[in-house]
Amino acid sequence: MWPILRCIPEMLRNRPAHRWIHRVMKELNTNIACFRLGNTHVIAVDSPEIAREFLKKHDAIFASRLETMATSIVSRGNLTTVFGLGGKQWKKMRRILVSEILSQSRMRWLLDMRNQEADNLVRFLYNQCSTSAKGKVINVRTASQHYPANALRRMMFSTRYFGKGSEDGGPGFEEEEHVASFFTMLKYVYAFSVSDYLPWLRGLDLDGHQKRVRDAVKVVNKYHDPIVNDRIQQWREGKKTDPEDLLDVLILLKDSDGNPLLSIDEIRAQILELFLETVDNPYNAAEWALSEMLNQPNQLEKAVEELDRVVGKDRLLQESDVPHLPYVISCAREALRLHPMASFNVPHVSSSDSIVSGYFIPKGSSVLLGRLGLGRNPAVWDDPVRFDPERHLSECHVDLGESELRFISFTRGRRGCVGGALGTNLTVMLLGRLLQGFTWNVPEGLDKIDLSCEADSLLKATPLFAHAKPRLNPSVYPSSLL
Ligand code: HEM
Repeated sequence: MWPILRCIPEMLRNRPAHRWIHRVMKELNTNIACFRLGNTHVIAVDSPEIAREFLKKHDAIFASRLETMATSIVSRGNLTTVFGLGGKQWKKMRRILVSEILSQSRMRWLLDMRNQEADNLVRFLYNQCSTSAKGKVINVRTASQHYPANALRRMMFSTRYFGKGSEDGGPGFEEEEHVASFFTMLKYVYAFSVSDYLPWLRGLDLDGHQKRVRDAVKVVNKYHDPIVNDRIQQWREGKKTDPEDLLDVLILLKDSDGNPLLSIDEIRAQILELFLETVDNPYNAAEWALSEMLNQPNQLEKAVEELDRVVGKDRLLQESDVPHLPYVISCAREALRLHPMASFNVPHVSSSDSIVSGYFIPKGSSVLLGRLGLGRNPAVWDDPVRFDPERHLSECHVDLGESELRFISFTRGRRGCVGGALGTNLTVMLLGRLLQGFTWNVPEGLDKIDLSCEADSLLKATPLFAHAKPRLNPSVYPSSLL
């Protein structure tokens, strides 16, 4: 018999809910547990064997999603992919992403734009630390959080800045506001809001989540909508003839009768969702990896040695180098394992009754694979809380995928991540360029980098500040903002 807990009051007494679920499972010494929240069976899983049963053997049954107040707001009523509940609309949007937006050929088409942003990343850091011969302490989070967002803004809208930006290559007010809004949305999309399990409470917005999500979406719309509207107009008036970025691609998609395949609302919602999928993991993995490696400098040395051997010191790391950097890839994988963005994978909901690993799972159950629980499972990982890239090395990974679900990166199956190649490139380019371009040290006066998490999330509690000094010939650093 497995534990079934009826628990909305318990959950409210023990915020944040994700920590409470992990604690209860640890106390009960179980890898699977069912929490009854309102009428929903929420099933948490910490074992790769059971996780594979769900996403391999029974994948078709668990390919729906949980609708929450926040997912329905950000996806304009579930028009998009990750928040698509399943069925025709989700299939259509997923197919578009796979074949038109994130395909290999599309990614090749947009390579110059990503390169420009990878160069701007290095230039922004160089501008900050090269003004003193000794180097300087800089805020790594600002640079690393904005790099994936800049890359997508460039690929989506052919622009880096919504406003004037910043002289030194950093974000302007508009970009700060844009990126911060996505992190607000990410915080609330699956936040165990009581009204998601007791729907009659929805209108009341007791925890204030609804207002915060609506405000964040408003901010993003303020930046995106004028660009989208103007671009549609340009195509209608024949002012544009060649597609130049992903927005053009989305506008030009046609159905079999030659009519636009996507409505304006679908375009807006899918663009917003693509930003949500891009801004978080690469930055979080790179910030944690560098923080951990600063506390174990032999790991920093190994990664830099690999970069010097594979890439050299006369040019900057390129995406084509990424598959040849097993140690740097292992560092990024280790950060995803030990420090995931969120406690749980995106929920998978069952479309019929089923038996999985001998447990009866009623239709409508919401399955949460534990990103923390799998990644730190002591039955799978030796000394699980130690950051140790070597544990991935023997497997010769050329990307961040983990299809055996020993930890969650892109998962697998019908709902698996469709942005794995882009996600790998953004993450490894970010971490790799930080390591190749600069010598990093713990700031003077500190023994170690503080590795504590925020109270209610798994993000690093404080932004990483570290001492950076350029380590390449000045001629290798990009000299002007692109
Ligand atoms: C290192 C970076 C990334 C990581 C670790 C990551 C991880 C994930 C995970 C865990 C899921 C949920 C899978 C599931 O439900 O089982 C997911 C879904 C998804 N990801 Fe990613 N992702 C990354 C980057 C990206 C990027 C850059 C994009 C696109 C720009 C993207 C697009 C998507 C989409 C569209 C889905 C939803 C698929 C569906 O529900 O059908 N991801 N990702």
